[in-house]
Amino acid sequence: MSDKGFTIWFTGLSGAGKSTLAEVVEQRLKANGQRVEVLDGDVVRTHLSKGLGFSREDRDTNIKRIAFVCSLLTRNGVVCISAAISPYREARAWARQEIGNFVEVYVKCSIDVCRQRDVKGLYKLVDEGKIKNFTGVDDPYEEPEQPELVIETDKETVQKSVDRIFSKLVELGYLEPEFVSEHEKVAAK
Ligand code: ADX
Repeated sequence: MSDKGFTIWFTGLSGAGKSTLAEVVEQRLKANGQRVEVLDGDVVRTHLSKGLGFSREDRDTNIKRIAFVCSLLTRNGVVCISAAISPYREARAWARQEIGNFVEVYVKCSIDVCRQRDVKGLYKLVDEGKIKNFTGVDDPYEEPEQPELVIETDKETVQKSVDRIFSKLVELGYLEPEFVSEHEKVAAK
């Protein structure tokens, strides 16, 4: 286990796979004795950000709250995983600066595939005109310019994506090289 705190900051459209990746990465880290907290957009919006909407101002407030909590945990050696759309570059840059040990992962997926998946049935409501200002449809999503990693969830399996995330964490010095190989040994059994 590593005692270095850091934050994995997933960003991407609704339905791109942020929560799924966060969960699998969390489990793998925990299996290795790491302390981990996930801050998922949908979950955060039920308490810490309850009452916030989807204007730019509210989204920025949401992201700043998540980043603040991540900064507190990260400096205490916890691995934080943020899984919020975080559509604006400026807010993500703010989070990066606030947190320090920051690994931005762009969870890239075409809007067509997100729409087909429609895990929460929201794209249907968007198409019916029941939800406005939906990210990627009639509200902006600003792609990261220099993320540490791009994961294309419409082109690779969850397992492959997770492996690439761990390799990157090792490459950046946040995890010991043994971490990945130890896990692979267990997985291979
Ligand atoms: S963020 O923009 O502030 O980062 P966050 O990740 O917390 O967004 O919340 C996004 C989730 O809220 C989506 O996955 C979806 O379930 C729901 N949602 C409801 N309305 C919208 C909307 N107008 N745009 C995007 N997501 C929405």
